Amino acid sequence: MTGLKFDNKTVMITGASRGIGRHLAIEFASAGARVVVNYNRNEEAAISVVDTITNNGGQAIAVGADISDAVSVHKMLDATLTAFGSVDVLVNNAGINKDNTLLEMSEEEWTRVVDVNLKGPFLCTQAFGRVMVSAGTGKIVNISAVTSIQGRANAVNYCSSKAGLNMLTKCSALELAPAVQVNGIAVGFIESELVREIYSQEQIDRVNRSVALGRMGSIEEVTNLVMYLSSDGSNFMTGQTIVLDGGRVMI
Ligand SMILES: NC(=O)c1ccc[n+]([C@@H]2O[C@H](COP(=O)([O-])OP(=O)(O)OC[C@H]3O[C@@H](n4cnc5c(N)ncnc54)[C@H](OP(=O)(O)O)[C@@H]3O)[C@@H](O)[C@H]2O)c1
Repeated sequence: MTGLKFDNKTVMITGASRGIGRHLAIEFASAGARVVVNYNRNEEAAISVVDTITNNGGQAIAVGADISDAVSVHKMLDATLTAFGSVDVLVNNAGINKDNTLLEMSEEEWTRVVDVNLKGPFLCTQAFGRVMVSAGTGKIVNISAVTSIQGRANAVNYCSSKAGLNMLTKCSALELAPAVQVNGIAVGFIESELVREIYSQEQIDRVNRSVALGRMGSIEEVTNLVMYLSSDGSNFMTGQTIVLDGGRVMI
């Protein structure tokens, strides 16, 4: 809970059917925002996020779209404007992993991860950013990873896509200024379904030993920073990717 208010703001969150995106959707709605809950495959989960929000008196819609497909992104923009009439905040949160060794990685594993993690945020920034520039105001927050600046074995596709996302943050901040501020968060290990799916407890313990604060971050801690970067309090900040990793990487 940040205490920040988003009354009369429309917040578009990609990949909000679960994990960090789900929590963001519920918290933004609690703070007064109208929320667009994007999902790719998991419609049932997205509808349950919307139900949670509306049962609490909030406003939300679920919109299915593969963010790596331009036509789908434009349909999602249309659905957003039809439902809520504006878009004030875009959180490029959706992301996937398809880990493999560099020597064994297939073209499909490379292409799919780069398409979702980098082309998707590009397409959404272009579509939603255009509306924000016309309105003269807007905030975009890109969810990157600490592995965008510190390589991870067996994840050349993921790390490269997130490094590209950091540069998308800088370039779109330059081009969409002064109307729109674009910032990113290089997220470290977060206690989430994604991490539990990919890593064993032994691997998690090993990583935590290399973190100054000795633990994974929480989804709430990511949400707090996303909300700050989406608020007027961060109006003088743009083009930055902030490391949020408990002190694992310090450069
Ligand atoms: N968890 C961590 O420790 C961690 C660390 C560093 C960075 N991050 C980043 O934080 C973000 C969220 O991570 P998470 O752990 O919450 O992930 P998650 O639980 O796996 O959720 C991923 C979300 O992205 C959606 N998605 C996947 N492909 C999509 C596509 N093509 N189009 C639209 N949506 C799509 C999924 O929707 P469906 O389920 O409907 O397919 C789901 O809602 C990601 O960008 C991730 O890289 C996470």
